[in-house]
Amino acid sequence: MSQTTAPLTFEVTRRSDPRPDAEREAVLANPGFGTTFTDHMVTATWRRGEGWTDGKVVPYGPITLMPSAAVLHYAQEIFEGMKAYRHEDGSIWTFRPEANAQRMLRSARRMTLPELPEEDFLASLRALVEVDQAWVPSGTSGESSLYLRPFMYASEAFLGVRPAAEVTYSVIASPAGAYFSGGIKPVTLWLSTDYARAGEGGTGAAKCGGNYASSLAGQLEGIENGCDQAVFLDASTHTYVEELGGMNLFFVTKDNRLVTPELTGSILEGVTRSSVLALAKEMGLEPEERRVPIQEWKDGAASGDIVEIFACGTAAVITPVGELRWDGGSCDHRGGVDYGEVTRSIRERLLDIQYGRAEDTHGWLTRLV
Ligand code: COI
Repeated sequence: MSQTTAPLTFEVTRRSDPRPDAEREAVLANPGFGTTFTDHMVTATWRRGEGWTDGKVVPYGPITLMPSAAVLHYAQEIFEGMKAYRHEDGSIWTFRPEANAQRMLRSARRMTLPELPEEDFLASLRALVEVDQAWVPSGTSGESSLYLRPFMYASEAFLGVRPAAEVTYSVIASPAGAYFSGGIKPVTLWLSTDYARAGEGGTGAAKCGGNYASSLAGQLEGIENGCDQAVFLDASTHTYVEELGGMNLFFVTKDNRLVTPELTGSILEGVTRSSVLALAKEMGLEPEERRVPIQEWKDGAASGDIVEIFACGTAAVITPVGELRWDGGSCDHRGGVDYGEVTRSIRERLLDIQYGRAEDTHGWLTRLV
């Protein structure tokens, strides 16, 4: 559903009661994840026959939606996740935004939502971060950032099942520290065998809310079994490792291979995942994208062939994986070590690029302010 319209511009209406400096600084000192939002948000509207119009930066606040809005019934919705990083000189950057823009286009096609051109996507990020730049944490030694959440939903008030004729795009922003409340420590994973996250021909590769909703039952089962996150297998054969629902997975072998499940159409094409694959080569690892049988994980943990496992995503960056538990068993590959050397060095290398502490040889950074 592409439609050529003039590039969007975003008219700014500043809020009259922005958060006082001291309050904002208190949030930035200890941001947590996803609980506090900046003073403003972006909105734009698409209508069939008109294309994208009405770009705005407005005070952050409740949205008005008819109870019959299609998104509330048929979940026609997609989103993205990215971050703005403050560098030592005060400038603000984001990481591979064109990759998120392109993924949003792919998600939109899958969910029959309108395509938002890459330049409009980028302009919307710049517009919001410009106005809310005081909300981007400083202190480049840490890893606090401003999490950006672009999203798009069927706002048309209509109960017929068909692609909506009116759609809203929005961007909100939230200061972010560590995604997991316990900080960076190995997560315990629950192997979900009763629930699949996405199936063949489904929406697994799209970043749509429904995928995350369908991961919650497995996630809850994991929590009930003392785990932090669930890991999902392919829906057809229940044999191959897919992803965690919100993160991709990597295995480091004792002969220096870095193995990750290949993109089968039901796995999210993570921007962090693709960056890790690129960095791995430079760090002397042999990247391998292929199907990974769950039995290989269990056997590799027992034999010592798998020496490190980590999960990655924009929000949690790179998180070491500890134990894997399932109904009736468990395995742990760590041999008493909490945080493997490969996991640590890939994590540091990625963060160093994002925060401007290392040269950006890939051209991954885009300046926002
Ligand atoms: C991200 O890493 O940005 C994600 O999308 C994961 C989650 C917070 C939904």
